[in-house]
Amino acid sequence: MSEKEPRKPAISGEDEDEVIVRTVGKNATRPRKGQDDSGVPSEAPILPIRNMVIFPGTVVPLAIGREKSRRLISDVLPSERVIITVSQKDPDVDDPAPCDLYDVGTAVMILKVLSLEEGSQSIIVHGLTRIRITEWLAEKPYLHGRIEVLHDKLERTKETDALVMNARNLGRRVIELSPNLPDEAIVVLNNIDQPGALSDFLASNLQLEIGSRQKFLNELNVNERLRMVGVELHRQLEVLEISDRIQNQVKANIGKSQREYFLQEQLKAIQEELGQVDDKTAEINELKETISRARMPEVVLKEATRELNRLERLPTASPEYNVIRTYLELMCELPWQVSTEDKLDVTRARKVLNRDHYDLDKVKRRILEYLAVRKLSPQSRGPILCFVGPPGVGKTSLGQSIARAMGRKFIRMSLGGMRDEAELRGHRRTYIGAMPGRIIQEIRKSGVNNPVFMLDELDKVGADFRGDPTSALLEVLDPAQNSTFQDHYLNVPFDLSKVMFIATANYMAPVPPALQDRMEVIELPGYTRLDKLQIARKYLVPRQLKENGLNRSQAKWTSQAISKIIDDYTREAGVRNLERQIGAVCRALAAMIAEGKARCRTITPRFVTKMLGPRQFESELAARTSTPGVATGLAYTPSGGEIIFVEAAGYPGRGRLTLTGQIGDVMKESAQAAMSLLKSRFGRYGLDPERIARTDIHIHVPAGAVPKDGPSAGVAIYTALVSLLTGKAVRHDVAMTGEITLRGLVLPIGGIKEKSLAAQRAGIRKIVLPWRNRKDLLDVPADAKKAMEFVFAKKVDDVLKVALDGRI
Ligand SMILES: Nc1ncnc2c1ncn2[C@@H]1O[C@H](COP(=O)(O)OP(=O)(O)OP(=O)(O)O)[C@@H](O)[C@H]1O
Ligand SMILES: [Mg+2]
Repeated sequence: MSEKEPRKPAISGEDEDEVIVRTVGKNATRPRKGQDDSGVPSEAPILPIRNMVIFPGTVVPLAIGREKSRRLISDVLPSERVIITVSQKDPDVDDPAPCDLYDVGTAVMILKVLSLEEGSQSIIVHGLTRIRITEWLAEKPYLHGRIEVLHDKLERTKETDALVMNARNLGRRVIELSPNLPDEAIVVLNNIDQPGALSDFLASNLQLEIGSRQKFLNELNVNERLRMVGVELHRQLEVLEISDRIQNQVKANIGKSQREYFLQEQLKAIQEELGQVDDKTAEINELKETISRARMPEVVLKEATRELNRLERLPTASPEYNVIRTYLELMCELPWQVSTEDKLDVTRARKVLNRDHYDLDKVKRRILEYLAVRKLSPQSRGPILCFVGPPGVGKTSLGQSIARAMGRKFIRMSLGGMRDEAELRGHRRTYIGAMPGRIIQEIRKSGVNNPVFMLDELDKVGADFRGDPTSALLEVLDPAQNSTFQDHYLNVPFDLSKVMFIATANYMAPVPPALQDRMEVIELPGYTRLDKLQIARKYLVPRQLKENGLNRSQAKWTSQAISKIIDDYTREAGVRNLERQIGAVCRALAAMIAEGKARCRTITPRFVTKMLGPRQFESELAARTSTPGVATGLAYTPSGGEIIFVEAAGYPGRGRLTLTGQIGDVMKESAQAAMSLLKSRFGRYGLDPERIARTDIHIHVPAGAVPKDGPSAGVAIYTALVSLLTGKAVRHDVAMTGEITLRGLVLPIGGIKEKSLAAQRAGIRKIVLPWRNRKDLLDVPADAKKAMEFVFAKKVDDVLKVALDGRI
């Protein structure tokens, strides 16, 4: 409660100091009643003071700075010791006139004069009594006036006692809380028993501005003054208490983090009690609810509950929290028990299959059998089907059709280029950004546990240091194992046994035998011209018309136009390009109709040529085989059967054999075998061994970008060599296939149907096949059989007879 008014520079003079508190004690008990006021003269010099009010009973030091004030002090001392002090209304006025001063002031006794360094002076005064200036007598050399002593008005009642007690209590607490007030001040406070003096003591120690202080001085009614002091003390106490609280809070904050956990737990308990929940609890409750609704198998439920408990203990900010939450969400979304109902109506299924695809009777029959078995024995686990065939023969679309026929959902997953087992099986959750494998993801997307799941392009799976996806496929495709399929991310088994897996491949060779073994392979070998024509008329043309916004009456396709596209603009086993070219013609027509150049059109071969430009495929047969040394062979490649030309050329040398054209080892060996066989039979063809010894022979199989292998080109190589050395050209409409032995036998080979179709496409008339392949003629479409003559050879001589037209 020390005085805190701003200290003015020395020249501004009058000021006080902290001495009040320390020195006030001995004067505090100054008797008032019955005191002889004669010590206070009726006229006295007046000292203006600024920034302070002197209360009776207090001892205050005053700095004397102003010239007028010095004069006053030096004049009155030592004869007079009592002077009057009054406060300036405005502390900034340097030479105050009477109007600048309050009219109530204090008569003070000068106790001591202190001369300080640099000529400044200080006096210590003791407040005696309140006075009022009644008349100003002089302003120079200093203020001088007539005064009237003012007496306290006190009617001592119970109220006075109450006010005294209140003021004392408040004062005590203020002293206790103020860090810069000495505790001895309480002793002083206890020793003042005069109500007026008590109020003055407290008022002098209040932190107030001058105007308010002066009000305390003006008030003569002691009760009223005590009340005012009480109000003011109360206000200060409040301020002190608040600042005290703030201090305590600051201290408490330091220990906050340790207490936070404890408080949060308490908060949780309270919230539970009140029925309120926070975000995390809400989320966990929701998960709990979803888990209970997910109909998980027991093992899975156990794992999910375990993870949920872990989640509850983790703070939401922890990265693991999100990992577990995502995991649990996936677990809840998986269709553990959700399945669509199978439509096992065989008649209906047959209709659907026939509506979508032409022919493919063998496949359709197999699928209907599958359905029939399912109907009779719902628990039976059907075999896994694998459709093998060249591109565009309808493997993928057949899968869709099966799903439709059975009323199941359809998933297609391409395995092409997949090299990483984790792609199928997922990553363990310990890895950042781990995800379930594709199989589980697709199942989740489909929302059921019994879709038709097509593993497309099985032959394009790769394997490298990241692992071999086939090992995961082995598990997926094994009906005995896939009821407990393990995904690394999921970490619990998922039952895939209700899924109907269908695999597709262009070529069976690259598929690992273990995988092949698990599947029932169904071949879709490719279409004949007639098949293609039917497919185009029944399926592709209507579809393309619809896609291009045309109707049947606007575009009338003739069979000849379709045949033209099949022969001159496509060369394929499937119908994908055919559909594309039909689409191109339809598009062109649609553009013409839109431009108003035509209203409808019969699509003829001429129109096709006009729209598609010059024919893209021409028969090379005649051109290629018109010179000796070239023979037409048949190969079986991933994109179906194909015709190949074997070319042989001779030039002077030392009897060496060169082979080019991306030929595999097996084919190279059969070339060497053909050469040896030929050498052993020189006599038979009337050839001169001497001449051959001086000739190098080069065998080339063009279209070098396509790798070729297998023994089936043996007869073609042999024929080409004989043709070269005898100078007799091979018939251009004959194609041949078969393996040869050194004894000149022709051994059977595979892919008869594909090769026949390829030969037909290329315009071959006669095909020479190994004798032991006769049974395979059954597979060859009637259409092809009608178009070509099939000759069966037991020995190479039988081949030569046909190929060289018996000219040997
Ligand atoms: N027998 C058919 N009847 C009707 N449309 C067919 C037939 N065969 C194929 N198609 C049509 O040919 C198009 C290509 O078929 P799809 O995409 O199924 O070929 P794919 O065998 O899967 O070829 P790839 O091996 O290149 O994947 C499809 O639009 C399909 O409808
Ligand atoms: Mg496909």
